[in-house]
Amino acid sequence: MMLSVKNLKVAYGGIQAVKGIDFEVGEGELVTLIGSNGAGKTTTMKALTGSLPLQSGEIEFMGQSITGRGAWDLVAEGLAMVPEGRGVFTRMTILENLQMGAYSVTHANAKQQMADDVDRAFTTFPRLKERINQLAGTMSGGEQQMLAMARALMSRPKMLLLDEPSMGLSPLMVEKIFDVVREVRSQGVTVLLVEQNAKLAMQIADRAYVMESGLITMSGAAKDLLDDSRVRAAYLGE
Ligand SMILES: Nc1ncnc2c1ncn2[C@@H]1O[C@H](COP(=O)(O)OP(=O)(O)OP(=O)(O)O)[C@@H](O)[C@H]1O
Ligand SMILES: [Mg+2]
Repeated sequence: MMLSVKNLKVAYGGIQAVKGIDFEVGEGELVTLIGSNGAGKTTTMKALTGSLPLQSGEIEFMGQSITGRGAWDLVAEGLAMVPEGRGVFTRMTILENLQMGAYSVTHANAKQQMADDVDRAFTTFPRLKERINQLAGTMSGGEQQMLAMARALMSRPKMLLLDEPSMGLSPLMVEKIFDVVREVRSQGVTVLLVEQNAKLAMQIADRAYVMESGLITMSGAAKDLLDDSRVRAAYLGE
């Protein structure tokens, strides 16, 4: 398994947001975690990358415990995250944001790799190239999402965690972002995609987990869950 999570519990003071969940993501898989507002998805993501302490549980990435490790450290191990709300450096330009994404690349050839990867990002997202010297904070939500994903990919991650990339975007922009998620995965990057847009997420995922009130209540092949009447009623508005 690329990522394996066992009995994860996270609380904010007395509020138990994640109540003991287990899930895993295999190498090369695209797995989605869906659920309504407040289900605990972001809390789970933050716990994975060490920005929230665990109450209990064990997290393994590529066979090694990463419990208690911080996000910057994990990027160097190959685990990159695009947080909810994107987290671009608003007062830096597009190019500077991309360069920051490669901070963990320190080998002798790092400069050349960074130049190549910036070119690759601009091929994937031509919109970013047009705006190379624009401050990230002045870009639209969709452009910031593109930048956040491009920045995360600059570290050449083995696995990418995405927290609600579709949030606040127009249907067309959501499609573009999901196309890129699919493309990233086809290049061999393992993906864990947290989404409220359950339908689209399950259409591109191999497997899905459904989270409700801090627990995982359903899981299986994404195409099976798409056909499940409970999932359809609760998450697909049917
Ligand atoms: N900093 C915090 N302090 C206290 N409670 C919090 C905090 N952050 C989140 N919570 C609570 O934890 C629960 C889970 O929140 P979380 O953000 O993980 O949900 P989510 O599934 O990501 O929802 P959404 O789809 O709206 O992003 C919610 O009840 C929320 O109010
Ligand atoms: Mg969230």
